[in-house]
Amino acid sequence: MCAIVGYTGYKPAIPILLDGLRSVEYKGYDSVGIYLPLSGPYKNVGKVEGLVDILPDNLVSTAGIAHIRWATHGVPSLENTHPLTDTNKNVWIVHNGMIENHDELRQELQEKGHIFTSETDSEILAHLIADEYEKCLKPHNAVAKALEKVVGTYGLAVMFSNLPDTIVIASMGNKMSIGIKDGEYIIASETAPMLRHTSNVVQLRDGEYAIVTPQGYTIYSFDHEKLSRKPKTIDIAKETALRKDVPHNMMKDILELPRVLENSARGRVIMQEGTARFGGLDEHMKELSELKRLIIVGCGSSYYAGLIGKLMLEDYVKIPVEVVYGSEFINRKVMEAQDGTIVLGLSQSGETPDIIDSLAIAKKAGIRTYGLVNVVGSTISKMVDTGMYNHAGPEQGVRSTKGYISQIEVLALMTLELARIRGLSKARGAEFIAEIKQLPDKVRTILKERRKIKKLAEEYLGYDDFLLIGRKYNIASAHEGALKLKKVSYVHAESFPAGEVKNGPIAMLNEIFPTIAIMPSDSVYDAMRKDVELIRERGGPILAITTEGNMDAYSFADDVIFIPDTRECFSPILANIPLQLFAYYSGALRGFSQDAPLRPSNVVTFDQDTDE
Ligand code: AGP
Ligand code: GLU
Repeated sequence: MCAIVGYTGYKPAIPILLDGLRSVEYKGYDSVGIYLPLSGPYKNVGKVEGLVDILPDNLVSTAGIAHIRWATHGVPSLENTHPLTDTNKNVWIVHNGMIENHDELRQELQEKGHIFTSETDSEILAHLIADEYEKCLKPHNAVAKALEKVVGTYGLAVMFSNLPDTIVIASMGNKMSIGIKDGEYIIASETAPMLRHTSNVVQLRDGEYAIVTPQGYTIYSFDHEKLSRKPKTIDIAKETALRKDVPHNMMKDILELPRVLENSARGRVIMQEGTARFGGLDEHMKELSELKRLIIVGCGSSYYAGLIGKLMLEDYVKIPVEVVYGSEFINRKVMEAQDGTIVLGLSQSGETPDIIDSLAIAKKAGIRTYGLVNVVGSTISKMVDTGMYNHAGPEQGVRSTKGYISQIEVLALMTLELARIRGLSKARGAEFIAEIKQLPDKVRTILKERRKIKKLAEEYLGYDDFLLIGRKYNIASAHEGALKLKKVSYVHAESFPAGEVKNGPIAMLNEIFPTIAIMPSDSVYDAMRKDVELIRERGGPILAITTEGNMDAYSFADDVIFIPDTRECFSPILANIPLQLFAYYSGALRGFSQDAPLRPSNVVTFDQDTDE
């Protein structure tokens, strides 16, 4: 999920690798490492500049690989920082992505005598490759053979201790490219590290691998055929100009949402069994099957994701769930420990003080605590009895975009696992999964239409107040949409359960107070329609977010945004995308950017749309 840079040629590699790492620092990471043949790895938990401080002055090398890591398996620590190696330190790897079957593979290799030194999923790659390398002695063949055993995603760069100028790379779900210059090759998972050196770039496709030396490179297809692919010429001037126009970090995060949904579900869905599985919950199945009451604690967006989780758990698992603000949990009477009660802390950062305090109170009372956090190794991840990670990757813009979407998805998968152990049929479980699997493409469909949302944001630019409403699952969408609108565009936005508008808020509505009604065609559509009719009488414009094909919406709404059809409980995921985009454009058009201003290193990857 993070970034790789490699170099082989005739120049000193270190400045090129460090410069490359700096150009991708914007991605967010927790640790950084570099491997230089003959002088071993150098690592730092923290920033690239911290690595620079510990590099000896007299290092000389004309090849090397480097990595910035965003931990997914194992806390940020020196042991877990890439480059990682095998037992005999023959193979060194840097890896972006996640290996789903690392546990099984690790067990097999341990039985053969391999000694593992990190908690990462990635280390398995070094051991597998070393195993194959001993047998076949051809570096690229060893990598290809090893990867046949692997399930998961990877952008991978590999060096061998006895081949100081050879780098083997491979790609599956994570990009890898070779920048070509005379006798020099820059390897990277993004274009930024190459731009200073060359405009000739060849990109690997999924399943392909390549061997690169200063003498040249050869790319192989997934079925081991040599490929002749011409490098693509990147217009450096255009790329550099585009970088200035690159969407703010929030837009980058939004554009990554389909991948976020894929990553959060990766390795957790078992289609044949119609269920989901979380490593962190495996040993707690007895406790979970006896669960009587769940208390979800969250703040801000995490609290709203909790509201959606509550409805899902009540709908499918049929246990009572409370959702409490962290800032309020701490004000409640300390609960006695009760059998069958679990407190689940929801936090993207894993560092929100109110959640930490709430969990500490629950622990003190003897209540079991679970966590759902995005940041591996964060305070909350360490203090809870067990938990799950979002695997959403680092958030660069306004938090929480990726965090919120992945929280809902993980809560859905947890719901599925609990529902299955409480009697939901395999077939119904499989239908649930089939729908989850379609979500990334459905999000892509919405993102493709984002220019329409930009136009709507322009149209609504003159308004200073917004009301957002929804029922059932989309009450949370209304709250989250309003929160983002306030936070990103600084306009006044209220949010209410639609059925509550008549009990007071209606009084403030008038023709200059638009309403955004989140109303997919679901079990509460007819009720929503009545709420909206009432609001219409106040004269303000209505912008409806509804399900594709629902032409009825034109009969009461001034503007309509369509989202693809999905199961009712997943509609908040889809409805949130136009709301995030609307908030982003409203802010950008008003001249605000919640993000840090674009850093010069911000960069466009190959297929990222940059027309914002
Ligand atoms: C919303 O965009 C926020 N950044 C904020 O509401 C956030 O969700 C809240 O502060 C909780 O943060 P956490 O998930 O990291 O605990
Ligand atoms: N899954 C790997 C790890 O946790 C790689 C993470 C990344 O892409 O940075 O080490």
